[in-house]
Amino acid sequence: PLPSLSDTFGRFHSYLRISLTERCNLRCQYCMPAEGVALSPKSELLTTEEIARIARLFVANGVDKIRLTGGEPTVRRDLIDIIASLKSIEGLETVAMTTNGLVLTRQLVALQRAGLDIINVSLDTLSADKFERITRRKGWDRVMMGIDLGVQLGFNPVKINCVVMKGFNDNEICDFVRLTEEKNVDVRFIEYMPFSGNKWEMEKMVSYKEMVEKIRKRWPDFHALRNGPNDTSKAWKVPGAMGQVGFITSMSEHFCGSCNRLRITADGNLKVCLFGNTEVSLRDAMRAGSSDDDLTALISAAVKRKKKQHAGMLNLSHMENRPMILIGG
Ligand code: GTP
Ligand code: 5AD
Ligand code: SF4
Repeated sequence: PLPSLSDTFGRFHSYLRISLTERCNLRCQYCMPAEGVALSPKSELLTTEEIARIARLFVANGVDKIRLTGGEPTVRRDLIDIIASLKSIEGLETVAMTTNGLVLTRQLVALQRAGLDIINVSLDTLSADKFERITRRKGWDRVMMGIDLGVQLGFNPVKINCVVMKGFNDNEICDFVRLTEEKNVDVRFIEYMPFSGNKWEMEKMVSYKEMVEKIRKRWPDFHALRNGPNDTSKAWKVPGAMGQVGFITSMSEHFCGSCNRLRITADGNLKVCLFGNTEVSLRDAMRAGSSDDDLTALISAAVKRKKKQHAGMLNLSHMENRPMILIGG
């Protein structure tokens, strides 16, 4: 591992998440406040070329996987060009994207042709009515069609991200598990996390343990699988199902010890932890004429300030952070 992306706890960061936009065509309640968020002027967002430069620099320092996030990455007009330019970087093995899935039926063929390797699709309910309630927009059937298209096109597997909230969709957990029996998709249940403006309450969070207990009542043979060294999710499976079930337990059992992620916000800040406040503007440095060596030194210094782990569920709910829409997950 190269020194610049290693932190003081021996973690090497090989996975970069780049947010492409602050905009989204949905308004999910757990992700942004009802009134929306103040958007940065376009001039403050990274350009196509700046994104490519940052990506090259991180890959030169050991990153082998980049995930595009948002806001919603598919609303960015130059998405195809961005993917194509990332795919031309030697040493970058995987280009992934996390999307709300709304426009995949229109875009996915072209995105795959440009080189997109992996898609994760957010979907919190299997009911069109509830979709409209949580996202404040219509579109459940389009997202489902997008997921099916992903399976057809050979994205293997398509991962579905489901944020579980008590009283909203916790009664659909078994329906989502059944989806892994019917389709070649992985469903990952995510513990509801606190971010600025998302009205998080501990009572709304459903823990890993509760979810597993619920599923085991229906499928007594539901069992844990082995995980990769840097996985965010704990993998489980119903015997014979096509896909797996995963649990992203950021709140009840954090996985900071094996964290290998860094983030770039759409306005060009390096953010070293999802729940951390250490940010440094790579955009300003680039625009002030920094060399690649200067940038690497700036990045390295920020990575060295990364904390060992996040502050814990209750502290996080009071901490100042960006709203999720401005981080990208
Ligand atoms: P893979 O690359 O397929 O492992 O996906 P991922 O889990 O890294 O990314 P995705 O964008 O699908 O995010 C799923 C959930 O995991 C979201 O709720 C993210 O906020 C959360 N997540 C992703 N990375 C991290 C992380 O580094 N720390 C924590 N605590 N949560 C994360
Ligand atoms: N808690 C947990 N997961 C969240 N996501 C967005 N907001 C939250 C939250 N408050 C998820 C989205 C998306 C991923 C990037 O992060 O569902 O799949
Ligand atoms: Fe990494 Fe921070 Fe997520 Fe922990 S909370 S896994 S340190 S990004």
